[in-house]
Amino acid sequence: MTERLTIPRPDDLHLHLRDGAMLASVLPESARHFGRALVMPNLVPPVVTGADAVAYRERILAALPAGADFRPLMTLYLTEATEAEDVVAAHAAGIVQAVKLYPAGATTNSASGVRDLARVEAVLARMTEAGVPLCIHGEVTDPEVDIFDREAVFIERVLEPLRRRLPGLRVVLEHVTTAEGVAYVQGGGAGIAGTITAHHLVLNRNHLLAGGIRPHYYCLPVAKREVHRRALVAAATSGAACFFLGTDSAPHLDAAKLAPCGCAGCFTAPVAMALLAHVFEAEGALGRLEAFACRNGAAFYGLPVNAGRITLVRGAQHGAQHGAQRGPGTIATPDGPLTVFDPGFAPLWHVEETDA
Ligand code: DOR
Ligand code: ZN
Repeated sequence: MTERLTIPRPDDLHLHLRDGAMLASVLPESARHFGRALVMPNLVPPVVTGADAVAYRERILAALPAGADFRPLMTLYLTEATEAEDVVAAHAAGIVQAVKLYPAGATTNSASGVRDLARVEAVLARMTEAGVPLCIHGEVTDPEVDIFDREAVFIERVLEPLRRRLPGLRVVLEHVTTAEGVAYVQGGGAGIAGTITAHHLVLNRNHLLAGGIRPHYYCLPVAKREVHRRALVAAATSGAACFFLGTDSAPHLDAAKLAPCGCAGCFTAPVAMALLAHVFEAEGALGRLEAFACRNGAAFYGLPVNAGRITLVRGAQHGAQHGAQRGPGTIATPDGPLTVFDPGFAPLWHVEETDA
């Protein structure tokens, strides 16, 4: 049985790093294992212009631990006031990798998002010409649509019509959570990819709701039925080039999670790679973890595979006393505790720590 697995430093192609004290608290957790991350722009106020992205990138670099081998890849938040030329120039200059579409009201800090897709169509057409990828939070916000159906309905009502109008638009359907999403990405040709989180590979909606409500398992899109989780595991472990890792690690203070109206988001950065190794091994697919976490996303974004490497080790974790790799537990931030995602089982793998 494989006991050690060395792979290139992986890419987290969907990550929330926040800002200020929270950024300083969570960034080392991603920088420890990942070589790069595509950083989501849903700050308050959001990262809208190329200049905003440059400034945010500087704050991230300033918060990095000394010697970290980690590069933030920036995104812009699409609003109905976004200027196409600013987007295209920021992409051409290498300042941003992609633009993020949040339907207004779909999720955390999406109030500045898009209400009417027609109002951003000209920007999307320019992005198509210039080859700027569009990362999509794929859920409708129609209150009539059941929350468990919002992804599948989005594909039918919004995504497919959009791609028919702009067939050359490069699209990432972010955090796919349904069998319908998997099938759509698989059948969509070279212009579409899908990210999959670590937590959606281990959660179904029973984990969230049966036997007590578990706020730390609440995220958006919400976890679906087991049949959908199985489809996600099959997709991620298939090695298919159209699927890659985006953890959607989304830290919220415990006070904000454990509230009458708790925030959506699972803070998985410290445990994501261990969870993935566990899941891939269970599928007999450890050899395809590198494709999913290190190669497919880099290829989609036209980036070289990271030169650095990490080693995953099977067996009980040593070195936790160094505080380097916090399993389930909490991280203290200046504003209060932040709970690390706990899958409810001990992953059989961990990332070997070299910085202890
Ligand atoms: O669970 C989520 N949390 N889903 C999102 O789409 C946003 C994210 C956040 O920013 O907290
Ligand atoms: Zn997200």
